[in-house]
Amino acid sequence: MREVKIGLVGFGNVGRELVRQLLAREYIIAERFSIRFSIVFIADSKGVLYGTPTIRKDLLEKALDVPRGAISSLKGGIRGELACSAVEKVGPDVVVEVTPSVYDLNAPALENVDVALENGADVVLANKAPLALRYEYFMKKAVSLGCRIFFKACIMAGTPLVDFIMYGLRGREIGSLVGILNGTTNYVLGLIEEGLSFREAVKRAVVEGYAEPNYTTDLEGIDLAAKASILYSLSMKPISINNVIIENKIDGSIEEIIKDAKLKRLKVKYVAVLFRNEAPRVKLITLSEENVMAQVKGVQNCVKIRTLDESEMLLMGPGAGRRVTALTLLSDLLLSAHKVRGGRD
Ligand SMILES: NC(=O)c1ccc[n+]([C@@H]2O[C@H](COP(=O)([O-])OP(=O)(O)OC[C@H]3O[C@@H](n4cnc5c(N)ncnc54)[C@H](OP(=O)(O)O)[C@@H]3O)[C@@H](O)[C@H]2O)c1
Repeated sequence: MREVKIGLVGFGNVGRELVRQLLAREYIIAERFSIRFSIVFIADSKGVLYGTPTIRKDLLEKALDVPRGAISSLKGGIRGELACSAVEKVGPDVVVEVTPSVYDLNAPALENVDVALENGADVVLANKAPLALRYEYFMKKAVSLGCRIFFKACIMAGTPLVDFIMYGLRGREIGSLVGILNGTTNYVLGLIEEGLSFREAVKRAVVEGYAEPNYTTDLEGIDLAAKASILYSLSMKPISINNVIIENKIDGSIEEIIKDAKLKRLKVKYVAVLFRNEAPRVKLITLSEENVMAQVKGVQNCVKIRTLDESEMLLMGPGAGRRVTALTLLSDLLLSAHKVRGGRD
Protein backbone atom coordinates (compact mmCIF):
# COMPACT_ATOMS: atom_id res chain seq x y z
CA MET A 1 0.00 0.00 0.00
CA ARG A 2 1.42 3.36 -0.99
CA GLU A 3 0.58 6.46 0.97
CA VAL A 4 0.01 9.69 -0.99
CA LYS A 5 0.01 12.89 1.04
CA ILE A 6 -2.48 15.55 -0.11
CA GLY A 7 -2.39 19.25 0.76
CA LEU A 8 -5.88 20.68 0.22
CA VAL A 9 -6.10 24.39 -0.57
CA GLY A 10 -9.72 25.60 -0.50
CA PHE A 11 -12.45 24.10 1.64
CA GLY A 12 -15.69 25.29 0.06
CA ASN A 13 -18.17 23.34 -2.08
CA VAL A 14 -15.62 21.35 -4.02
CA GLY A 15 -12.93 20.97 -1.33
CA ARG A 16 -15.44 19.58 1.18
CA GLU A 17 -17.00 17.23 -1.35
CA LEU A 18 -13.55 15.91 -2.23
CA VAL A 19 -12.97 15.07 1.44
CA ARG A 20 -16.37 13.33 1.58
CA GLN A 21 -15.53 11.27 -1.51
CA LEU A 22 -12.08 10.37 -0.22
CA LEU A 23 -13.62 9.16 3.04
CA ALA A 24 -16.39 7.25 1.28
CA ARG A 25 -14.05 5.60 -1.23
CA GLU A 26 -11.10 4.85 1.01
CA TYR A 27 -11.53 1.07 0.85
CA ILE A 28 -12.23 0.91 -2.90
CA ILE A 29 -9.15 3.03 -3.62
CA ALA A 30 -7.01 0.80 -1.39
CA GLU A 31 -8.35 -2.41 -2.90
CA ARG A 32 -8.25 -1.38 -6.55
CA PHE A 33 -5.19 0.83 -6.62
CA SER A 34 -3.20 -0.06 -3.48
CA ILE A 35 -3.15 3.61 -2.60
CA ARG A 36 -3.99 5.34 0.64
CA PHE A 37 -4.65 9.06 0.31
CA SER A 38 -4.03 11.01 3.48
CA ILE A 39 -4.63 14.72 3.96
CA VAL A 40 -1.75 16.52 5.65
CA PHE A 41 -3.26 20.00 5.72
CA ILE A 42 -6.40 21.88 4.73
CA ALA A 43 -6.30 25.62 4.03
CA ASP A 44 -9.18 28.07 3.75
CA SER A 45 -9.07 31.84 3.38
CA LYS A 46 -8.44 32.37 7.09
CA GLY A 47 -5.92 29.73 8.07
CA VAL A 48 -4.65 26.16 7.96
CA LEU A 49 -5.49 22.93 9.76
CA TYR A 50 -2.46 20.62 10.12
CA GLY A 51 -2.43 16.88 10.71
CA THR A 52 -0.15 15.00 13.07
CA PRO A 53 1.28 14.17 10.57
CA THR A 54 -1.97 13.38 8.71
CA ILE A 55 -5.44 14.61 9.60
CA ARG A 56 -7.26 11.75 11.30
CA LYS A 57 -10.59 10.52 9.97
CA ASP A 58 -12.60 11.75 12.98
CA LEU A 59 -11.10 15.23 12.62
CA LEU A 60 -11.88 15.27 8.88
CA GLU A 61 -15.49 14.40 9.68
CA LYS A 62 -15.58 17.20 12.22
CA ALA A 63 -14.01 19.61 9.71
CA LEU A 64 -16.89 19.00 7.29
CA ASP A 65 -19.22 20.64 9.82
CA VAL A 66 -17.24 23.81 10.53
CA PRO A 67 -18.52 27.03 8.93
CA ARG A 68 -16.65 28.77 6.11
CA GLY A 69 -13.37 30.33 7.18
CA ALA A 70 -13.19 28.33 10.39
CA ILE A 71 -10.98 25.36 9.51
CA SER A 72 -8.17 26.74 11.69
CA SER A 73 -10.46 26.79 14.74
CA LEU A 74 -10.06 23.02 15.02
CA LYS A 75 -7.30 21.35 17.08
CA GLY A 76 -4.10 21.58 15.02
CA GLY A 77 -5.22 24.77 13.27
CA ILE A 78 -3.25 27.99 12.87
CA ARG A 79 -5.30 31.10 12.11
CA GLY A 80 -3.63 33.51 9.67
CA GLU A 81 -1.37 30.78 8.25
CA LEU A 82 -1.09 30.82 4.42
CA ALA A 83 -1.51 27.77 2.21
CA CYS A 84 1.92 28.25 0.62
CA SER A 85 3.56 28.18 4.07
CA ALA A 86 1.79 24.90 4.76
CA VAL A 87 3.16 23.45 1.50
CA GLU A 88 6.68 24.45 2.49
CA LYS A 89 6.35 23.10 6.03
CA VAL A 90 4.75 19.76 5.21
CA GLY A 91 5.95 18.87 1.70
CA PRO A 92 2.86 17.04 0.37
CA ASP A 93 3.08 14.73 -2.66
CA VAL A 94 0.24 16.57 -4.32
CA VAL A 95 -1.52 19.90 -3.80
CA VAL A 96 -5.20 20.24 -4.71
CA GLU A 97 -6.02 23.91 -5.53
CA VAL A 98 -9.75 24.60 -5.24
CA THR A 99 -9.88 28.27 -4.28
CA PRO A 100 -11.98 30.72 -6.35
CA SER A 101 -10.91 31.34 -9.95
CA VAL A 102 -9.60 34.90 -9.78
CA TYR A 103 -8.04 36.12 -13.03
CA ASP A 104 -5.33 38.27 -11.54
CA LEU A 105 -1.61 37.53 -11.78
CA ASN A 106 -1.32 38.44 -8.09
CA ALA A 107 -4.02 35.99 -6.94
CA PRO A 108 -2.75 33.69 -4.16
CA ALA A 109 -3.59 30.59 -6.23
CA LEU A 110 -0.75 31.35 -8.65
CA GLU A 111 1.73 31.51 -5.81
CA ASN A 112 0.27 28.31 -4.36
CA VAL A 113 0.94 26.47 -7.63
CA ASP A 114 4.45 27.94 -7.86
CA VAL A 115 5.34 26.93 -4.32
CA ALA A 116 3.83 23.46 -4.73
CA LEU A 117 5.96 22.76 -7.82
CA GLU A 118 9.09 24.21 -6.19
CA ASN A 119 8.54 21.79 -3.32
CA GLY A 120 8.29 18.81 -5.67
CA ALA A 121 4.50 18.35 -5.46
CA ASP A 122 2.15 17.55 -8.31
CA VAL A 123 -0.77 19.95 -8.63
CA VAL A 124 -4.43 19.08 -9.20
CA LEU A 125 -6.60 22.04 -10.18
CA ALA A 126 -10.29 22.91 -10.35
CA ASN A 127 -9.30 26.58 -10.14
CA LYS A 128 -8.96 27.75 -13.75
CA ALA A 129 -7.00 30.93 -13.11
CA PRO A 130 -3.41 29.62 -12.91
CA LEU A 131 -3.56 27.93 -16.34
CA ALA A 132 -5.83 30.52 -17.95
CA LEU A 133 -3.25 33.17 -17.08
CA ARG A 134 0.08 31.32 -17.25
CA TYR A 135 -0.29 27.94 -18.97
CA GLU A 136 3.10 27.84 -20.64
CA TYR A 137 4.98 29.11 -17.60
CA PHE A 138 3.46 26.54 -15.23
CA MET A 139 3.74 23.60 -17.63
CA LYS A 140 7.39 24.34 -18.36
CA LYS A 141 8.10 24.79 -14.68
CA ALA A 142 6.41 21.48 -13.83
CA VAL A 143 8.42 19.61 -16.46
CA SER A 144 11.69 21.17 -15.32
CA LEU A 145 10.98 20.11 -11.73
CA GLY A 146 9.75 16.59 -12.57
CA CYS A 147 6.20 17.36 -11.44
CA ARG A 148 2.87 17.31 -13.21
CA ILE A 149 -0.22 19.49 -13.30
CA PHE A 150 -3.63 17.88 -13.70
CA PHE A 151 -6.58 20.07 -14.62
CA LYS A 152 -9.44 17.89 -15.82
CA ALA A 153 -11.86 19.57 -13.38
CA CYS A 154 -11.25 23.02 -14.91
CA ILE A 155 -13.29 22.37 -18.07
CA MET A 156 -16.41 20.19 -18.36
CA ALA A 157 -15.73 19.26 -14.76
CA GLY A 158 -17.85 16.12 -14.79
CA THR A 159 -16.74 14.82 -18.20
CA PRO A 160 -13.14 13.85 -19.06
CA LEU A 161 -12.64 16.22 -22.01
CA VAL A 162 -9.07 17.05 -21.00
CA ASP A 163 -8.06 13.37 -20.84
CA PHE A 164 -9.84 12.78 -24.16
CA ILE A 165 -7.67 15.43 -25.80
CA MET A 166 -4.48 14.76 -23.86
CA TYR A 167 -4.42 10.97 -24.11
CA GLY A 168 -7.12 9.94 -26.60
CA LEU A 169 -6.04 12.38 -29.31
CA ARG A 170 -2.33 12.18 -28.59
CA GLY A 171 -0.38 12.45 -31.85
CA ARG A 172 -3.34 13.94 -33.76
CA GLU A 173 -3.94 17.63 -34.32
CA ILE A 174 -7.15 19.44 -33.53
CA GLY A 175 -8.18 21.86 -36.27
CA SER A 176 -11.21 23.32 -34.52
CA LEU A 177 -13.27 22.99 -31.39
CA VAL A 178 -16.66 24.48 -30.56
CA GLY A 179 -17.95 24.09 -27.02
CA ILE A 180 -20.96 24.80 -24.87
CA LEU A 181 -18.87 24.94 -21.73
CA ASN A 182 -20.75 27.20 -19.36
CA GLY A 183 -23.79 25.54 -17.82
CA THR A 184 -25.11 28.71 -16.19
CA THR A 185 -25.49 30.63 -19.45
CA ASN A 186 -26.87 27.59 -21.27
CA TYR A 187 -29.49 27.25 -18.55
CA VAL A 188 -30.37 30.95 -18.71
CA LEU A 189 -30.68 30.86 -22.52
CA GLY A 190 -33.00 27.85 -22.23
CA LEU A 191 -35.27 29.68 -19.78
CA ILE A 192 -35.46 32.75 -22.02
CA GLU A 193 -36.38 30.48 -24.92
CA GLU A 194 -39.24 29.17 -22.78
CA GLY A 195 -40.52 32.74 -22.40
CA LEU A 196 -38.87 34.19 -19.29
CA SER A 197 -37.28 37.63 -19.43
CA PHE A 198 -33.50 37.92 -19.03
CA ARG A 199 -33.90 39.16 -15.44
CA GLU A 200 -36.36 36.43 -14.49
CA ALA A 201 -34.14 33.74 -16.02
CA VAL A 202 -31.04 34.88 -14.12
CA LYS A 203 -33.02 35.11 -10.89
CA ARG A 204 -34.41 31.58 -11.36
CA ALA A 205 -30.93 30.23 -12.13
CA VAL A 206 -29.62 31.67 -8.85
CA VAL A 207 -32.58 30.41 -6.80
CA GLU A 208 -32.23 26.91 -8.27
CA GLY A 209 -28.49 26.86 -7.61
CA TYR A 210 -27.46 26.83 -11.29
CA ALA A 211 -25.81 30.24 -11.01
CA GLU A 212 -23.60 31.63 -8.26
CA PRO A 213 -24.90 34.76 -6.53
CA ASN A 214 -21.96 36.46 -8.27
CA TYR A 215 -22.75 35.34 -11.81
CA THR A 216 -21.05 38.12 -13.77
CA THR A 217 -18.03 35.99 -14.74
CA ASP A 218 -20.49 33.62 -16.43
CA LEU A 219 -22.67 36.25 -18.14
CA GLU A 220 -19.72 38.37 -19.26
CA GLY A 221 -18.03 35.40 -20.88
CA ILE A 222 -15.01 35.35 -18.56
CA ASP A 223 -15.55 31.77 -17.42
CA LEU A 224 -15.91 30.66 -21.05
CA ALA A 225 -12.83 32.68 -22.02
CA ALA A 226 -10.80 30.97 -19.28
CA LYS A 227 -11.87 27.55 -20.52
CA ALA A 228 -11.21 28.58 -24.14
CA SER A 229 -7.69 29.70 -23.27
CA ILE A 230 -6.86 26.47 -21.42
CA LEU A 231 -8.23 24.32 -24.25
CA TYR A 232 -6.38 26.36 -26.86
CA SER A 233 -3.16 26.05 -24.84
CA LEU A 234 -3.69 22.30 -24.49
CA SER A 235 -4.60 21.53 -28.08
CA MET A 236 -3.07 24.29 -30.22
CA LYS A 237 -0.59 26.69 -28.64
CA PRO A 238 -0.22 28.43 -25.29
CA ILE A 239 -2.33 31.55 -24.90
CA SER A 240 -3.52 33.73 -22.02
CA ILE A 241 -7.16 34.43 -21.19
CA ASN A 242 -6.32 38.07 -21.97
CA ASN A 243 -5.94 37.15 -25.65
CA VAL A 244 -9.33 35.49 -25.95
CA ILE A 245 -11.80 37.68 -27.86
CA ILE A 246 -15.14 38.01 -26.11
CA GLU A 247 -17.52 38.97 -28.94
CA ASN A 248 -20.75 38.82 -26.95
CA LYS A 249 -21.92 38.97 -23.37
CA ILE A 250 -25.28 37.79 -22.11
CA ASP A 251 -27.44 40.76 -21.14
CA GLY A 252 -30.95 42.11 -21.73
CA SER A 253 -30.39 42.22 -25.52
CA ILE A 254 -30.46 38.42 -25.60
CA GLU A 255 -34.29 38.43 -25.40
CA GLU A 256 -34.57 39.99 -28.87
CA ILE A 257 -31.83 37.74 -30.32
CA ILE A 258 -33.62 34.61 -29.11
CA LYS A 259 -37.00 35.89 -30.36
CA ASP A 260 -35.59 36.47 -33.87
CA ALA A 261 -33.86 33.08 -33.89
CA LYS A 262 -37.08 31.32 -32.85
CA LEU A 263 -38.90 32.79 -35.86
CA LYS A 264 -36.28 31.16 -38.07
CA ARG A 265 -36.45 27.87 -36.08
CA LEU A 266 -32.92 28.39 -34.84
CA LYS A 267 -31.45 27.95 -31.35
CA VAL A 268 -29.02 30.40 -29.77
CA LYS A 269 -25.97 29.00 -27.96
CA TYR A 270 -23.16 30.74 -26.11
CA VAL A 271 -19.94 29.01 -27.03
CA ALA A 272 -16.16 29.01 -27.05
CA VAL A 273 -14.84 28.71 -30.61
CA LEU A 274 -11.28 27.63 -31.33
CA PHE A 275 -9.63 27.52 -34.74
CA ARG A 276 -5.96 26.69 -35.18
CA ASN A 277 -3.95 29.86 -35.96
CA GLU A 278 -6.78 32.21 -34.92
CA ALA A 279 -7.43 33.82 -31.55
CA PRO A 280 -10.04 31.86 -29.59
CA ARG A 281 -13.44 33.53 -29.30
CA VAL A 282 -16.42 33.55 -27.00
CA LYS A 283 -19.62 34.28 -28.84
CA LEU A 284 -23.28 33.65 -29.54
CA ILE A 285 -24.06 31.35 -32.45
CA THR A 286 -27.29 30.08 -33.95
CA LEU A 287 -27.83 26.44 -34.83
CA SER A 288 -30.62 24.65 -36.60
CA GLU A 289 -32.97 22.89 -34.19
CA GLU A 290 -31.86 19.50 -35.54
CA ASN A 291 -28.20 20.13 -34.74
CA VAL A 292 -27.10 17.89 -31.84
CA MET A 293 -25.45 20.81 -30.07
CA ALA A 294 -28.70 22.78 -30.27
CA GLN A 295 -30.31 20.11 -28.13
CA VAL A 296 -27.86 20.45 -25.24
CA LYS A 297 -30.12 21.45 -22.36
CA GLY A 298 -29.66 23.10 -18.98
CA VAL A 299 -26.28 22.73 -17.35
CA GLN A 300 -25.06 20.00 -19.71
CA ASN A 301 -21.87 20.74 -21.64
CA CYS A 302 -20.93 19.62 -25.14
CA VAL A 303 -17.92 20.00 -27.42
CA LYS A 304 -17.47 19.26 -31.09
CA ILE A 305 -13.91 18.61 -32.15
CA ARG A 306 -12.64 18.40 -35.72
CA THR A 307 -9.18 16.99 -36.22
CA LEU A 308 -6.88 17.89 -39.11
CA ASP A 309 -7.35 14.32 -40.39
CA GLU A 310 -11.01 15.30 -40.93
CA SER A 311 -12.60 13.31 -38.11
CA GLU A 312 -15.43 14.90 -36.19
CA MET A 313 -16.12 13.95 -32.58
CA LEU A 314 -18.71 15.01 -30.07
CA LEU A 315 -18.42 14.77 -26.30
CA MET A 316 -21.37 15.59 -24.06
CA GLY A 317 -21.83 15.40 -20.31
CA PRO A 318 -22.02 17.23 -17.01
CA GLY A 319 -20.03 20.44 -16.85
CA ALA A 320 -20.05 21.30 -13.16
CA GLY A 321 -21.52 20.42 -9.78
CA ARG A 322 -19.64 19.72 -6.59
CA ARG A 323 -19.99 15.93 -6.70
CA VAL A 324 -18.86 15.33 -10.28
CA THR A 325 -16.11 17.90 -9.87
CA ALA A 326 -14.82 16.14 -6.75
CA LEU A 327 -14.89 12.78 -8.55
CA THR A 328 -12.90 14.25 -11.41
CA LEU A 329 -10.35 15.58 -8.91
CA LEU A 330 -10.16 12.08 -7.48
CA SER A 331 -9.42 10.71 -10.95
CA ASP A 332 -6.60 13.24 -11.32
CA LEU A 333 -5.30 12.36 -7.85
CA LEU A 334 -5.11 8.72 -8.93
CA LEU A 335 -3.26 9.70 -12.11
CA SER A 336 -0.83 11.71 -10.00
CA ALA A 337 -0.40 8.84 -7.55
CA HIS A 338 0.88 6.60 -10.33
CA LYS A 339 3.78 8.91 -11.01
CA VAL A 340 7.22 7.53 -10.36
CA ARG A 341 8.57 10.22 -8.10
CA GLY A 342 11.26 12.29 -9.75
CA GLY A 343 10.35 11.08 -13.24
CA ARG A 344 7.68 11.52 -15.88
CA ASP A 345 5.51 8.88 -17.51
N1 LIG B 1 -18.39 24.30 -7.95
C1 LIG B 1 -18.21 23.65 -9.10
O1 LIG B 1 -19.05 22.88 -9.56
C2 LIG B 1 -16.91 23.81 -9.84
C3 LIG B 1 -16.69 23.08 -11.02
C4 LIG B 1 -15.47 23.21 -11.68
C5 LIG B 1 -14.51 24.07 -11.20
N2 LIG B 1 -14.78 24.80 -10.06
C6 LIG B 1 -13.74 25.69 -9.55
O2 LIG B 1 -13.31 25.14 -8.32
C7 LIG B 1 -12.90 26.18 -7.44
C8 LIG B 1 -13.63 26.01 -6.12
O3 LIG B 1 -15.03 26.12 -6.32
P1 LIG B 1 -16.02 26.08 -5.07
O4 LIG B 1 -17.39 26.07 -5.64
O5 LIG B 1 -15.59 25.04 -4.11
O6 LIG B 1 -15.71 27.53 -4.42
P2 LIG B 1 -16.08 28.02 -2.96
O7 LIG B 1 -17.23 27.22 -2.42
O8 LIG B 1 -16.20 29.49 -3.01
O9 LIG B 1 -14.80 27.63 -2.07
C9 LIG B 1 -13.60 28.30 -2.19
C10 LIG B 1 -12.72 27.94 -1.02
O10 LIG B 1 -11.46 28.57 -1.19
C11 LIG B 1 -11.09 29.20 0.03
N3 LIG B 1 -10.15 30.29 -0.21
C12 LIG B 1 -10.36 31.50 -0.76
N4 LIG B 1 -9.21 32.20 -0.81
C13 LIG B 1 -8.26 31.40 -0.26
C14 LIG B 1 -6.88 31.53 -0.02
N5 LIG B 1 -6.24 32.65 -0.36
N6 LIG B 1 -6.19 30.51 0.56
C15 LIG B 1 -6.83 29.37 0.91
N7 LIG B 1 -8.14 29.18 0.70
C16 LIG B 1 -8.85 30.17 0.12
C17 LIG B 1 -12.40 29.65 0.64
O11 LIG B 1 -12.18 29.90 2.01
P3 LIG B 1 -13.36 30.26 3.03
O12 LIG B 1 -14.02 28.95 3.33
O13 LIG B 1 -12.60 30.82 4.17
O14 LIG B 1 -14.25 31.23 2.33
C18 LIG B 1 -13.25 28.43 0.35
O15 LIG B 1 -13.01 27.44 1.31
C19 LIG B 1 -13.20 27.49 -8.17
O16 LIG B 1 -12.02 27.96 -8.75
C20 LIG B 1 -14.21 27.10 -9.22
O17 LIG B 1 -14.14 27.93 -10.37
C21 LIG B 1 -15.93 24.69 -9.37
